Amino acid sequence: MRLYAFLLKNHLPKIEYYSRFSPSPLSIKQFLEFGRDNACEKTSYMFLRKELPVRLANTMREVNLLPDKLLSQPSVKLVQKWYMQSFLELLEFENRKPEDPHALNDFLETLIEIRNRHNDVVPTMAQGVIEYKEKFGFDPFVSSNIQYFLDRFYTNRISFRMLINQHTLLFGNDINPAHPKHIGSIDPSCNVAEVVTDAYETAKMVCEQYYLAAPELKIEEFNAKAPQKPIQAVYVPSHLFHMLFELFKNAMRATNELHEGSKEGLPLIKAKVTLGKEDLSVKVSLSIFCTYKWHALILKLPVIFIIDQ
Ligand SMILES: Nc1ncnc2c1ncn2[C@@H]1O[C@H](COP(=O)(O)OP(=O)(O)OP(=O)(O)O)[C@@H](O)[C@H]1O
Ligand SMILES: [Mg+2]
Repeated sequence: MRLYAFLLKNHLPKIEYYSRFSPSPLSIKQFLEFGRDNACEKTSYMFLRKELPVRLANTMREVNLLPDKLLSQPSVKLVQKWYMQSFLELLEFENRKPEDPHALNDFLETLIEIRNRHNDVVPTMAQGVIEYKEKFGFDPFVSSNIQYFLDRFYTNRISFRMLINQHTLLFGNDINPAHPKHIGSIDPSCNVAEVVTDAYETAKMVCEQYYLAAPELKIEEFNAKAPQKPIQAVYVPSHLFHMLFELFKNAMRATNELHEGSKEGLPLIKAKVTLGKEDLSVKVSLSIFCTYKWHALILKLPVIFIIDQ
């Protein structure tokens, strides 16, 4: 992977230049306003052609601060190569005016390529950490630093992909006819209980494959603002789905392992969706020997989903 070292040396001034800017925090409200009112592709292009390199450069700088032994693992080098390649492709647009007849379309295609290239960043980075641990063992201090880095790294990746997705969904051809009311990837009236059910069903399939049994689900809704009405939120359903899917997997595993061989069968998992004055929360609880252990997701309302690290 000498190519990466060569590219890094050649483009270091650009990386340093862009990493001096902080990523712009964007709220869901801003995404919605932009997406609703005759979204302008040129404006989005002008914003993203700087914002995306800024985010990539900041991430690349953080990656470069990792311990050398971790950086030398093949999977980590591969991830670095992807980031560098995407950064360079975005720089191609630095001086291309939006009036250039092909600029907007080329940009759209580049974003799709970048998104595809980065599809496997999460497992590849995880593989890099495994390679490192296998070779050099487990050091609690280094591990907690790596965990801190990974949390930031993955969070940055979510916001980076969200920006790309908003642009490609609003201006590309990948409009989803099943969800015409979505603004890009945001559902302005996301039915929370429906997402809870979807996440449960998916986790149930995984659980049944592994344990040959899965606990049933009981959903309760408590809408303090509009009793009797289903709880809705302005949210990205896929993000909510992923969080709930992880909670359900955990709850199902704990239920199966703690009630293995029990005559009564598996106890229910409960999901309580509550809309209060300020927060929307989803509480997932499971029964363990008559005590309830619970894990909750609190979504602040009004949703201040800051796309920033
Ligand atoms: N509901 C739960 N009840 C009991 N223990 C739990 C529960 N949720 C998580 N844990 C414990 O916390 C650990 C970490 O959970 P986490 O979801 O981060 O990772 P994991 O479930 O082991 O792996 P992965 O989520 O990647 O499949 C679990 O391995 C388990 O020991
Ligand atoms: Mg888990």
